[in-house]
Amino acid sequence: MDTEVIRKRKSIRTYREQEIPEQTLNKVKNFLQGDTGLFEVPVTFTILNAKKEGVTSPVIIGADTFIAGKCRKQKNAEVSFGYAFEKFVLYATSLGLGTVWLAATIDRKAFEKAIHLEDDEVMPAVTPLGFAAAKRSIRESMMRKGLKSDSRLPFEELFFHDDFQKPLSVATAGIWELPLEMVRLAPSATNKQPWRAVVGKNKVYFYEKKTKGYAKESTGDIQKVDLGIALCHFEIAAKESGLKGRFIQADPGISVAGDTEYIATYVLEV
Ligand SMILES: Cc1cc2nc3c(=O)[nH]c(=O)nc-3n(C[C@H](O)[C@H](O)[C@H](O)COP(=O)(O)O)c2cc1C
Repeated sequence: MDTEVIRKRKSIRTYREQEIPEQTLNKVKNFLQGDTGLFEVPVTFTILNAKKEGVTSPVIIGADTFIAGKCRKQKNAEVSFGYAFEKFVLYATSLGLGTVWLAATIDRKAFEKAIHLEDDEVMPAVTPLGFAAAKRSIRESMMRKGLKSDSRLPFEELFFHDDFQKPLSVATAGIWELPLEMVRLAPSATNKQPWRAVVGKNKVYFYEKKTKGYAKESTGDIQKVDLGIALCHFEIAAKESGLKGRFIQADPGISVAGDTEYIATYVLEV
């Protein structure tokens, strides 16, 4: 997986009526077995046949296959889910398959039944899997316009140095430019882009800037899922840049606004 795949990925909601070749589906199966998540929270996946299992989404046209993921409810469940599921999304993209994160616009009951979700488990999101149609449906085009899916907030509004008072510019980001730019390209629920990062010495601190109404019993805090996606993108780009590091959790105590929560730190090995 590389940053080229991150740049290529876009949400796909309109699919061609074309089966996924068995060989490709076997690759997908193998990949899904090996995935582990972050902070020791395992994430498991189920491949679903839409017709057989009766799983649907009102925003999806033409997809017969869906992938659902779940994990046990616990600290870091959403972050780990986001990290693991996005790795899969990028892997699918590298195979030429289309995906879209779906947390809200699905028949959630049908999906949860199909994957035998237990009371102590959470299924934050699912994705269809298939080949993108040549043309988006009118509904999908309107959704993208409404959500401004092709734009992202400026670098300086998302990233800072030392504390939240000092915006970080692309020109001064140095080794962190590519990893943070890849965070900026990440998908997020309704394109809210809740990821914030503060660059310190050999460390990058990640925060969630919360929007009201995104933490629900059924899905968990969906913006923490967005943060897991951001960590996945950051790590891929850091590796590609030749950086060695890992994620830990140790709140540095930087002063934050009331709607902002510390999530994790990337520590550079020096
Ligand atoms: C956690 C998460 C949940 C999402 N839920 C939905 C959803 O329920 N329905 C939908 O149509 N799109 C959903 N999306 C897709 C976003 O709207 C999309 O990623 C965003 O508009 C940016 O567009 P892009 O993915 O093409 O870059 C979700 C994305 C994420 C990351």
